[in-house]
Amino acid sequence: MGFADPRGVPLTARDSGSVAAFEEALGQILAFAGDPVGALDRLIEGDPSCVQAHLAKAAIYAWSLHPSFVGRAREALAAAEAAGPALDHERRQAAAVDAWLGGRYDEACREFDAILADEPRHLAALFFAHQADFFAGRTEALELRPRRMLEALPEDLPGRGFVLGMWAFGLEETARFGEAEEAGRAAVAAAPRDVWAIHAVGHVLEETGRSEEGILWYGEREEDWAGNSYFAVHNAWHLALYHLDREEEGAVLAIYDRFLAPGRRSILLNLCDAAALLWRLHLAGLPAGARWRTLADAFAAKYRPGCHVFDDVHAMLAFVGADRSAEAARLMADLAGIAEGGDERARQLRRAGLPICRAIAAFGQGDWRSAVDLLSGLGEDRRLMTGSHAQRDILDLTLIEAAIRARETSLARELLERRLERRPESARIRRDLSRLAA
Ligand SMILES: [Fe+2]
Repeated sequence: MGFADPRGVPLTARDSGSVAAFEEALGQILAFAGDPVGALDRLIEGDPSCVQAHLAKAAIYAWSLHPSFVGRAREALAAAEAAGPALDHERRQAAAVDAWLGGRYDEACREFDAILADEPRHLAALFFAHQADFFAGRTEALELRPRRMLEALPEDLPGRGFVLGMWAFGLEETARFGEAEEAGRAAVAAAPRDVWAIHAVGHVLEETGRSEEGILWYGEREEDWAGNSYFAVHNAWHLALYHLDREEEGAVLAIYDRFLAPGRRSILLNLCDAAALLWRLHLAGLPAGARWRTLADAFAAKYRPGCHVFDDVHAMLAFVGADRSAEAARLMADLAGIAEGGDERARQLRRAGLPICRAIAAFGQGDWRSAVDLLSGLGEDRRLMTGSHAQRDILDLTLIEAAIRARETSLARELLERRLERRPESARIRRDLSRLAA
């Protein structure tokens, strides 16, 4: 029977109770809060015909980039199909998730384009399209899609604040820092627990080197981002970056141990944040002790090659960081095989994943010159590592450290001075520049 959500998007459901239950689950999805899969499961149990609930569940699993969730995503897709006749946008969402799981990222993003053209207020589609754009390296779309929805969504309709938070992040990723900060702060003022908007402002403060403000920003609202949010690990990672920039090693390790250290419930993206932080400590010459071993064990248990390039790069960091050269070599061989495929996943690997993983391995072997050559040869393809600017910054940080160690002084100086222009307060950059002068 035909129903519509509060923004007028039609939904297949049995009754208005299902529509209300989906709206509640969607609220958790948008806020990265609570247990949206649990909420969707309860909805589906009462109303298996609610196609949108099956699809949201499939999408959550698909964009977690967690290998053992791929099967669950496919099961949810099959359940959506079995639920019966679906609306056009529901069929297209199923096609988008299926394309993503098959490594056809452009196709997935095109399906979302079509959905949002027909249903410009489709908040669930926007949320998952935003995640798809993020992990497909489509930076411009991160800004464009939320902006279009803001134009289509009247101020009095629910969910607009979350769209503002997504737009803030897109503005930040396209280096429009002033507008990003304004939009992000407005979104947080409207919904203090909008952790994606908190994160967008956090990115601005990171990109502009305002570490002290960043520590304050996160410190003042710790309950909002750290409590009952499955995005807390990533926000904690951002907080640690400010401390790292200020060379506050004790604070970095305390944050790692509290939020990022692998646990039973860690998903692979959490492990990626952990690897990225330990690698940055490693580059700064700060020992992380047994943490590397624990992290490499967690990767060995949960990671499988070729699910997504973002995972692959971080798995390599973990194995090299833990000095596990046999596992690193095996991973490299597996990735080289996967890169011969014909899908987007293979293309990302060929153009970004493989050279980056080779550079990490070279750095681990003390072959600084090879690391410099591989990383400086990436050019615009670095974007295909996907993730955010801040996450890809690990490439520049590794390049700078490799250049310093390879005594490629003029390259290191050029990179550091360019970096200092955007981050004039950085203690870390000044220390590295003084190493060059020594
Ligand atoms: Fe981030």
